[in-house]
Amino acid sequence: MIVELIVLLASIFVFLQFVKGRGGESNSPTLEEAEQKLAKKELEKEKLVKKSTSAQKPTGKSLKKLNQASKKLDHKEFEHGLLTNTLKGHTKCVNDISFSENGKFIATSDGERSILLWPTKELGKGNTSYRYNTAHDPALSVKFAPDGKSLCAILQKENTVALFQVAKQDGGSYELKHISNAVDFLPGAALKRAKIAVQFQSGVQAGSFLYHEYSNHTVVLSDLRGNQELHRFPAASGSNGKTLLSPCSKFVVGFGDSAEIRGWAVLFKSGSYASTKKLHSLCGHKSNVSQAAFFPDSSKLISLSDASGFKIYDFNSADWQRDDTPREAEAFPNQWGAVDSILISPDNLILALVQHSSIKFISLRTKVLVLEIKDIFNGAIKSVEFSPDSELVAVAGDRCVRIFKNLPGLIARAHEAKSKLMNPNCNETYRNRLLAELKSDQKQINELQKQLLSS
Ligand SMILES: *[C@@H]1O[C@H](CO)[C@@H](O)[C@H](O)[C@H]1NC(C)=O
Ligand SMILES: *[C@@H]1O[C@H](CO)[C@@H](O)[C@H](O)[C@H]1NC(C)=O
Ligand SMILES: *[C@@H]1O[C@H](CO)[C@@H](O)[C@H](O)[C@H]1NC(C)=O
Ligand SMILES: *[C@@H]1O[C@H](CO)[C@@H](O)[C@H](O)[C@H]1NC(C)=O
Repeated sequence: MIVELIVLLASIFVFLQFVKGRGGESNSPTLEEAEQKLAKKELEKEKLVKKSTSAQKPTGKSLKKLNQASKKLDHKEFEHGLLTNTLKGHTKCVNDISFSENGKFIATSDGERSILLWPTKELGKGNTSYRYNTAHDPALSVKFAPDGKSLCAILQKENTVALFQVAKQDGGSYELKHISNAVDFLPGAALKRAKIAVQFQSGVQAGSFLYHEYSNHTVVLSDLRGNQELHRFPAASGSNGKTLLSPCSKFVVGFGDSAEIRGWAVLFKSGSYASTKKLHSLCGHKSNVSQAAFFPDSSKLISLSDASGFKIYDFNSADWQRDDTPREAEAFPNQWGAVDSILISPDNLILALVQHSSIKFISLRTKVLVLEIKDIFNGAIKSVEFSPDSELVAVAGDRCVRIFKNLPGLIARAHEAKSKLMNPNCNETYRNRLLAELKSDQKQINELQKQLLSS
């Protein structure tokens, strides 16, 4: 908490300096300098923690005390100044979470029997979820379709993708209406991930399919109902293999078993599935690629390996579908330790690193750790998603979902606005809009800072 506050206070200080003395910045530290200082502080603290933990080898007695203390912690409700809501109602560990793209709903699924639908307007107003009972079939994942009105979930026992529609009832309540189940295309392998995939061309729907990933990393593409197979291919292999479908639904990547990131393009012609084309691999890494994530606008892919750190590939630099290889736009070392998963906020400003039950928020512009939220759950984090407007970050684990204000994103946005204001070509209208946004962001940052201080 202390580190968080130092980071925040410093960011806010620098930020206020800027707003106060717009332009006359010569004697105040630049944001970069402040952030570098903060990163150094963070490093020193890490060293300190390492020292103190290695100095105190727990004896039998202190171990007992430690266990007692952690038991007490189990019963204490998690608290954090940025926590806005805790979604409760699941009876077993929450496996997955999904925001609808219009921001109106959150869907969550658990390992026992429930898929819950939460209208975001009603969050924090008591009984605010609508339950679909899966008849004791664990729901491994849940994902909204781009229309925000339909969603798909994986039912583990049936090894199938179940399709639902959000139906509005008289009286304003909602229902998750089960439409149908897809075929189990690979009965010998467990279904791991599924998505309702829609491709757009200049804003018009150009193609759609259902994406299935099985435990041996075979990807099956089918029609939207999940009755008819369009294509299947092995996208990765080995126990560390992973596959991803891009948010634009045009690309599939497979990685984890080598230094190579393999790619495929799913091609449609006149609204009908045409083919799946193997693309040139992304070959910049020097050891097995352990993580990768698409930017939410599908403009880039960020990837991580032990030997090469983070690398960002830019899809705007080349037409990957037409046999060009995307350029490596950026590379930076991983200074933050081993990670379980990574994701990028929809505004492309924040890189979130999930490490067991904690999340680190890195500014993508400066590559500096802005905030860490620690020990969110007793168990590991199962799923993390930013809201489509990047204002919130929702984290699933244990038996609930915790929703936090994305303060790192707010700070990053303020920095972004500042650098835009510095641009001499910035016209008056745009400048005034930016300043208004800065002012309102500053107000929010101040309020959140107060909450952090009092928590
Ligand atoms: C709470 O939600 C459940 C599920 O939708 C519903 O059956 C129940 O009547 C609601 N209770 C109240 C007090 O609104
Ligand atoms: C994946 O599992 C299915 C079902 O057992 C099998 O037919 C297929 O060959 C496997 N694919 C790979 C790449 O191992
Ligand atoms: C890289 O992946 C391959 C295939 O899964 C595996 O055999 C190998 O041990 C991995 N190498 C490292 C350094 O983890
Ligand atoms: C002002 O700048 C913004 C952002 O660069 C641009 O979108 C807008 O068209 C400009 N307006 C005028 C009047 O030049």
